[in-house]
Amino acid sequence: GSSRIQRMKEAHELASKLFNYILMNTDAGVQALSYVKRRGFSGQTIVDFRLGYAPDHPTTLVSFLSRRGFEPTLLVEAGLAVQIGDKVVDRFRDRVIIPIFDAQGAVIAFGGRVLQPDKKPKYLNSPETPLFKKGQVLFQYHRARREIRKSQTAVLLEGYMDVMSAWQAGLHNCVASLGTSFSEEHALLLKRSAERLVIAYDGDDAGRKAARRALEVAEPVGLDVRVLLFPAGVDPDEFVQAHGAEAFVRYVEAGARSPVEFLIEEARARANLSTSVGRTDFIREALHILASRGTPIEQEAAVKRLANEFEVSVSTLMEELALISKQVS
Ligand code: UTP
Ligand code: MN
Ligand code: MN
Ligand code: MN
Ligand code: MN
Repeated sequence: GSSRIQRMKEAHELASKLFNYILMNTDAGVQALSYVKRRGFSGQTIVDFRLGYAPDHPTTLVSFLSRRGFEPTLLVEAGLAVQIGDKVVDRFRDRVIIPIFDAQGAVIAFGGRVLQPDKKPKYLNSPETPLFKKGQVLFQYHRARREIRKSQTAVLLEGYMDVMSAWQAGLHNCVASLGTSFSEEHALLLKRSAERLVIAYDGDDAGRKAARRALEVAEPVGLDVRVLLFPAGVDPDEFVQAHGAEAFVRYVEAGARSPVEFLIEEARARANLSTSVGRTDFIREALHILASRGTPIEQEAAVKRLANEFEVSVSTLMEELALISKQVS
């Protein structure tokens, strides 16, 4: 019932405060605190995100909450604890804890990052629970919503650290989907507050692939989508920590591509432009992309660029585009 849900929220609220206290004020939290500082996060950011540390001990949280009257079964159902045989133990151990808030600002889940570079999984997240539906929750949405509405632009990043660094740098319209892909529900949520979405995923193969998927999800919902690519092997967190806030803001404003530009660039990366067959295939693929989503202005601009680059006449490409457009419609 709803009072059980309410109890689960209370357990999360208390847990987040305990983990935060341990990180900021105890010897057990010293290593984790220095890890967070080493990654460039300030004391204010630790407070803003209510970061914490779950110590390397089996029942710190379970004992703390049991003393406050929370049933072990409720803690298991809430994803805070796990049952092993007849014992109930903490889910999160020896991890930096990142609280996940719902749109109303209640803590409903956690992400936990390892301190050691070789330990797996890198992030352990709360499971799906009655409180936490991954397909519906966006990290930091409860506090980014105001700036998303004001700027009519939401920026979608990949991870916790990306959003935290962006926030610290002064970009307050960034969110992330969490250990799950961007869903139609996520897109609908953002569409309620903004006209535009900038997808700014990591500059690696996984990030580019996820950006293509997120684009396919966001466009049908009616968001005006732009895609921002980071240099190979760089993510927004690393970019902002290395180059600073202003460079990041400039990069977000100047570097975003339209879906057509992004998709043609992706096709180019896969093409073999050193053979004439490869070049023809690439041109045809580019025209297919244009036929299915380009506006007339975008189509003309892209066709001119292709004509120029591959020494084909604009009129030939326009004819071919018209043929393909007829086939796809
Ligand atoms: P990344 O692998 O890009 O991690 O995953 P990151 O955010 O850059 O993390 P750092 O900088 O190495 O600490 C992006 C996001 O995917 C989810 C997390 O939400 C992460 O922020 N993820 C990743 C998981 O849930 N579990 C994992 O093991 C890895
Ligand atoms: Mn930072
Ligand atoms: Mn990544
Ligand atoms: Mn990353
Ligand atoms: Mn990262």
